[in-house]
Amino acid sequence: IAVEIYPTAKEGSKAVAAEIAALIREKQAANQRCILGLATGSTPKYLYAELVRLHKEEGLSFKNVITFNLDEYYPLEPDALQSYHRFMKEQLFNHIDIPEGQYFIPDGTLPKDKMKAYCEQYDQHIESVGGIDLQVLGIGNNGHIGFNEPGSSINSHTRLVTLDNSTRLANGYDFSNMSQVPRLAISMGIGTILKAKKIVLLAWGSHKAKIVARSVEGSSSEHVPASLLQQHPNTKFVIEESAALELT
Ligand code: F6R
Repeated sequence: IAVEIYPTAKEGSKAVAAEIAALIREKQAANQRCILGLATGSTPKYLYAELVRLHKEEGLSFKNVITFNLDEYYPLEPDALQSYHRFMKEQLFNHIDIPEGQYFIPDGTLPKDKMKAYCEQYDQHIESVGGIDLQVLGIGNNGHIGFNEPGSSINSHTRLVTLDNSTRLANGYDFSNMSQVPRLAISMGIGTILKAKKIVLLAWGSHKAKIVARSVEGSSSEHVPASLLQQHPNTKFVIEESAALELT
């Protein structure tokens, strides 16, 4: 796994935004669509702010872009304060020219007996548009990517998953109390993620340093989901200096 280290999260985010913008423009020039896989959480906020700036100030258009988000809590209404639908609209989609109907986020409102078919369709949908060109990831303190918690299979597809308690605690700040944090989520699988042509994982802050080192330098194992990215031919970690402190 290649690692790029930047002094600050802002600088790292700007570099990744520039890379995404170049890819979108390259696809535009070739009259092709650009398929992006997107993450939520605190990590990609600067990235999305920079993409919005590129749209507003530098004419970057998202008309040829199709996006698929990694995950959503289950069950959760799209307009709930904590929903990733809401997050994506507020951080990105409301501020750019991506057409309605070209961004997709797992639906946290379907009844459980519809989930299996729905999740299969989500993966098929990604395939049907040609697969993800560039997948953006964050990383959980336990090494999760998307909501693929430790133990998730390298072949896993989009599915309903059970959140680790550590994840529920880490994300609890969004909810009024712990009992409000959903126990389930819909997540793209590790297998889904590994099909992306290019993967860029972002990590900021010293609290991510240990898990970054384990993912990059430790053995590739389902105990540390992000370490499975070692088996992907085109993955890089873009990290802040503070998140690089445990690398040898
Ligand atoms: C969210 C996601 C998660 C987060 C991870 C880190 O869509 O895929 O894997 O990237 O939980 O969260 P933050 O960025 O809040 O530290």
